[in-house]
Amino acid sequence: MKLILDTADLNEIRYFNTYYPIAGVTTNPSILAREGGDVLALLRAIREEIGAEKELHVQVVETEYARMVEEAKAIAAFLGAHTYVKIPATDQGLRAVMTLSGQGCGVTVTAVLSAAQALLASNAGAAYVAPYVSRLENLCESGIDMVADIAAVFASAGSRTEILSASFKTAREVLDAALAGSHAATIAPEVMRRLLAHPATDKSIAGFSSDWAGAFGRVTLLELLSRR
Ligand code: G3P
Repeated sequence: MKLILDTADLNEIRYFNTYYPIAGVTTNPSILAREGGDVLALLRAIREEIGAEKELHVQVVETEYARMVEEAKAIAAFLGAHTYVKIPATDQGLRAVMTLSGQGCGVTVTAVLSAAQALLASNAGAAYVAPYVSRLENLCESGIDMVADIAAVFASAGSRTEILSASFKTAREVLDAALAGSHAATIAPEVMRRLLAHPATDKSIAGFSSDWAGAFGRVTLLELLSRR
């Protein structure tokens, strides 16, 4: 499952793009609003940071079909290849997805809260659908069951649309989405960190260091090898 970073915080993007195997970055209007300032300069800086090959998902703000299509094309032209335009799951949005996908523009249908919406998005030609796991959990429904349902529907339909699960509050939800058949997940920095952090790992590493130091002192294997 591809791991994508769900933030527009450039410092976080620099950190995770350096140390974690991220496949790209997703944003939405709320995420961009948190950063404020010059939005276009920020989006350009994110593209420069992740490079031309990684995915950058940017959402339209317009809500009417023709304006969404115009905005989507402008976003894709501004940010180049491997840019996916996020379109919300509405009737105006579905029409925009049909137009844009027919013209070769990569589209991620976002704010998906049901497998039925995902089916419609796939049939409209979406490259990705983004089911919101935690937001559904907060409505007392299972976000992971939704992801599993979408995976089953796409498999039986032979759909080429990929599932980009989103809206995670816990590391366990991310793992459950992977087990349910999600192709990708977009994850906020604090949850991405929790995917790696484990106290037993820290304890094991501390044990390796103290065992080594007890037997060999401060020298490292690299130093021993370079002296040969
Ligand atoms: O990218 C959209 C999605 O991640 C929303 O997440 O945390 O606002 O529910 P959240």
